[in-house]
Amino acid sequence: MSKLDHLFQRNLDWATSIKERDPDFFTNLSKQQAPDYMWIGCSDSRVPANQIVNLPPGEVFVHRNIANVVVHTDLNCLSVLQFAVDVLNVKHVVICGHYGCGGIEAAMTDNEYGLVDNWLRHVKDVYRFNEKKFDGLDDRQKHNLLCELNVKEQVRNISNTTIVKNAWKAGKELSIHGWVYNIENGILKDLDTLVSGG
Ligand code: CO
Repeated sequence: MSKLDHLFQRNLDWATSIKERDPDFFTNLSKQQAPDYMWIGCSDSRVPANQIVNLPPGEVFVHRNIANVVVHTDLNCLSVLQFAVDVLNVKHVVICGHYGCGGIEAAMTDNEYGLVDNWLRHVKDVYRFNEKKFDGLDDRQKHNLLCELNVKEQVRNISNTTIVKNAWKAGKELSIHGWVYNIENGILKDLDTLVSGG
């Protein structure tokens, strides 16, 4: 007997409600996935990919990690990206940060949180690359700016992967988008960093 019975009950309710609306929903979805979108976002529980863009299962291929970072040598993230681009042929890769990000917050301090501090070095690097832009800002402005600059840096990192470069070289239709989500009002902002190739 599971100690998380309430979650199984919620699951049953959820699956039942979908089947009431569309009896073939899961049968159809089980045959294939053909998402147009790949989402790279923060692990934060308040930033669930599908719900934010109001899309059902089957529409978004998702990778999440703390502070939505795309590290040049992260085989996990790169494998998800490669499968999305080469096999699923997604048309759009969205990197979505969020204001109020604990990872960004932690990267702006010298507090120690353990192993994750090493991961957040990548965000500290983004701060260092852009240090002058933070002059004269208050703490909240600094935080918001680093959230945005971090997304822009990851758009650059995605665009420079062999996966994306080769897709563009092969003439594939593929765009990289940089967004920030506001956890205070549920609204997405496009950072206008769209990169397309092909
Ligand atoms: Co976060």
